[in-house]
Amino acid sequence: MVAGLIDRGLSKCIDVGLLLVMCGIVGYYGNDEAAEKIYRGLKRLEYRGYDSAGIATAGNPSIKVEKGEGTIDEVSEAEIDGTSGIGHTRWATHGGVNDRNAHPHTDCGEEIAVVHNGIINNYEGLKEKLKNRGHSFSSETDTEVVPHMLEEKMEEGLTLKEALMDVEERLEGSYAIAAVLKTGEMVAVKQDSPLAIGVNGSEKFLASDVTPFLEHTSKAIFLEDGDVVEFNGKLEIYNQREPVEREIQEVDWDAEQASKEGHDHFMQKEIKEQPKTVKKASFQDKSDLEEAVKMLDKADEIYLTGCGTASFAASLGAKYLEEAGYNVRTEQAHELEYSADSISEDDLVIAVSQSGETADLLSLLDKSPAPTLAVVNAVGSTLARQSDHTLYINAGPEIGVASTKAFTSQLGVLKLLQYASEGEIEEGRQKLLETAEAVEKVLENNKDTIEAISDYFTGKEHAYFIGRDKGYEMADEAALKLKELSYIHAEAFPGGEFKHGTLALVEEGTPVVAFLKDNGYDEIVSNAAEARSRGADLIGVGKNEISSFEYFIEIPDKGLEEIVEVAPFQMIAYLTSVELGHNPDKPRNLAKSVTVK
Ligand code: M6R
Repeated sequence: MVAGLIDRGLSKCIDVGLLLVMCGIVGYYGNDEAAEKIYRGLKRLEYRGYDSAGIATAGNPSIKVEKGEGTIDEVSEAEIDGTSGIGHTRWATHGGVNDRNAHPHTDCGEEIAVVHNGIINNYEGLKEKLKNRGHSFSSETDTEVVPHMLEEKMEEGLTLKEALMDVEERLEGSYAIAAVLKTGEMVAVKQDSPLAIGVNGSEKFLASDVTPFLEHTSKAIFLEDGDVVEFNGKLEIYNQREPVEREIQEVDWDAEQASKEGHDHFMQKEIKEQPKTVKKASFQDKSDLEEAVKMLDKADEIYLTGCGTASFAASLGAKYLEEAGYNVRTEQAHELEYSADSISEDDLVIAVSQSGETADLLSLLDKSPAPTLAVVNAVGSTLARQSDHTLYINAGPEIGVASTKAFTSQLGVLKLLQYASEGEIEEGRQKLLETAEAVEKVLENNKDTIEAISDYFTGKEHAYFIGRDKGYEMADEAALKLKELSYIHAEAFPGGEFKHGTLALVEEGTPVVAFLKDNGYDEIVSNAAEARSRGADLIGVGKNEISSFEYFIEIPDKGLEEIVEVAPFQMIAYLTSVELGHNPDKPRNLAKSVTVK
């Protein structure tokens, strides 16, 4: 990892193809040293990517840039001064992770620095023209065209804001872009990528979400597509070149929630927070739930969707709503998109997401003519703003890349929706309150077994998870947690499916984890026994211990089982990852908010 001031020798580069990024950006405009505030903000945004990072401050007579491959802690060595500046933390999807591709990028004269989250689709043509006009490029990124385009416009006599307005009209794609000029002026523009502004008197922040500025202010403006913002003494927002007013909203999250509060990792804190967050999930306005039920009742077809962990919540949610008598189709958003033509305006799409920024989900919703009901965590997210109705899961900021408390809160809200549709909101709330207690108990009562299973997994290369009915989604989620954090190969199957092929992989000492639900109990016990006969070590979770299993996690007989069952497996995945020497908050190759398709 190389840190330090921008390498001026890297003006030539090899094109390695389209370089796509999804990242986090931060900006500061005020009276304090910008670099320190931006650094702290970027630490909060690392869940969006941590391949490379950088900060630029306006330090008349030139821009000062510190950037490189690695996390912001690895990059941030030199001190750069200035009271306005921008920063970036990156997750690359194509192309090299290296110092020269790290943001911020500058123009030829190094008077303007730019950070960007998103994709500029037409950057190749723009770059070619800029090169022909004598501009010299240092990176393979799409972003670097922006500072050069701004440079040209300013040479024509435009202000930074006017230049950005002109440049924006020529960009195709999705972007949240922030630029700072050597004199300290700062501007930003948003199109299909999230951008929020934090307002703290004369001090202003901008960021991909509110977490970087929560420690300074809870007042936020969520920008609309096409908004151009100018930070120049005061804050001005324009859309289509006309000044516009945007509401300042009070954000109900606090800085403590976004800190580790004495835990080793965010994930550990977030697992332990669940008794509290499950309770908070039950705090839904009656009128919001009733409005959601009206949408269910009116719909011809109901689609429940999400990606990754949220897709397992969606799939369980579909089973809950089916119990209430609705016909529900569930599929991961990126796959459902291929059937988007069959969704009509009389249907309903229920979109489940923690971040509300997942590109696969937003892309499906773009194509769907049906109204959308969002079940989402991030306040002011694109999903929340674009949906016809929103049920917030109230889990507070989830920073660990692995979804834990967001998953259980999504389940809680979807279960509550089932109760609401049956006219039993209070009973639903009661169930969630019992669940909160049961989660605390299951973690406490099984502490030793959880640690023993984690130890056991550290010596394994493969693990299989099986379940029937709602146990299948639990198996899916437990396997996903283990593989994404420990890098142990873990797969989930319906218990009935296991013997149709995968059983061939079981040999002496292969771990098989079985979720033993009442529905299909005898069958899943038989499926586990079939694996045992081929040498598997059995790990079980259920209400009644089976002594012949190597390990068993007994869950209390109250609360919403799915939430209670998953919590120990979140902890097992966490501990296994730590024991193996990995960072569970930042699993390799992953980012929390997947804002590219
Ligand atoms: O923000 P979202 O809930 O829409 O994210 C969806 C998935 O990317 C996410 O759940 C992912 O699978 C988790 N990191 C897994 O722990």
